[in-house]
Amino acid sequence: MTKKILLFCDPGIDDSLAIMYAILDPEIELIGIVASYGNVTKEQATANAAYLLELAGRSDIPVIPGASMPVTEEAMRFYPEIHGGNGIGPIQPPSNFQYQIYPFDTIRFIIEKYKNELIIVDTGRSTTLANVFILFPEYIKMVQSFYVMGGAFFVPGNATALAEANFYGDPNSSNFVLKYAHNLTITPLNVTQYAVLTEEMVEAISKNEKNFYSFMLEPIFKYYYEFYKKSVPGIQGAPIHDLLTIMVVKNPSIVDYIFYDASVIESTEAKGMSYIDYRPTSKKGKTRIAVKLHYDAFIEELSGVMSQE
Ligand code: RIB
Ligand code: CA
Repeated sequence: MTKKILLFCDPGIDDSLAIMYAILDPEIELIGIVASYGNVTKEQATANAAYLLELAGRSDIPVIPGASMPVTEEAMRFYPEIHGGNGIGPIQPPSNFQYQIYPFDTIRFIIEKYKNELIIVDTGRSTTLANVFILFPEYIKMVQSFYVMGGAFFVPGNATALAEANFYGDPNSSNFVLKYAHNLTITPLNVTQYAVLTEEMVEAISKNEKNFYSFMLEPIFKYYYEFYKKSVPGIQGAPIHDLLTIMVVKNPSIVDYIFYDASVIESTEAKGMSYIDYRPTSKKGKTRIAVKLHYDAFIEELSGVMSQE
């Protein structure tokens, strides 16, 4: 059975690659995209999502604008040095690009329609998803499962020394999601930083003329990789955090897991830091946390989907 995914995201280069992967994988049915602030503004994230859908001839998939800021508004910042001023590296929707957007309540209709077949994947700041829990508490219970890209457990952060960007962006909302989401899997930096896309791989995928996105893969990757070459000396490619998160839905065994209840520090200089009680006698918890990536399986799956004729 296909995986029916409602994607919350902030495209963003790795979010964009996650959208491409979801569109191209015949075993995934992308039900809708909820686009919010994060790597770029909400408006830009929404336009980017709509543009990627249009390139694939899939403007039938609803794009729903989400949050434009975190619940605690201090320190909101965007990341042009990683994702480009407009979020997809040097690529941007045409200036006259027009697209349809759907109201927030569409999320409720989608949940009601698909009920326990619906899988929510969140690859952005947690604000919008937390609001869905607050606004539609009776509906959100119907969802089958949740997959969240966020956190860094006992490894360095990327937004700060301690914090990963999605959990740093709105730690209060991340804590809310970690507390209330059922059947929750998180893919923290522990695995996503190893989900590295290489130059060779991009070159190979770009040759596939049947891939709607072939023309933009090399320029996007080049932009994104430049940042990572500077920030992680010696890295062999660029980590596509969000694509891995969506890939795990269909391929759970490409990562190994531990089960704990996770929390995020909401203030102080450790803001956004994620942690679990990992002491030998501590209780196991409800959240499936990915801690190890099987890289060969990841690459095999990625090239299978992106290079299919
Ligand atoms: O820390 C990685 C996450 O932050 C990804 O979702 C990426 O898009 C950035 O926003
Ligand atoms: Ca993201």
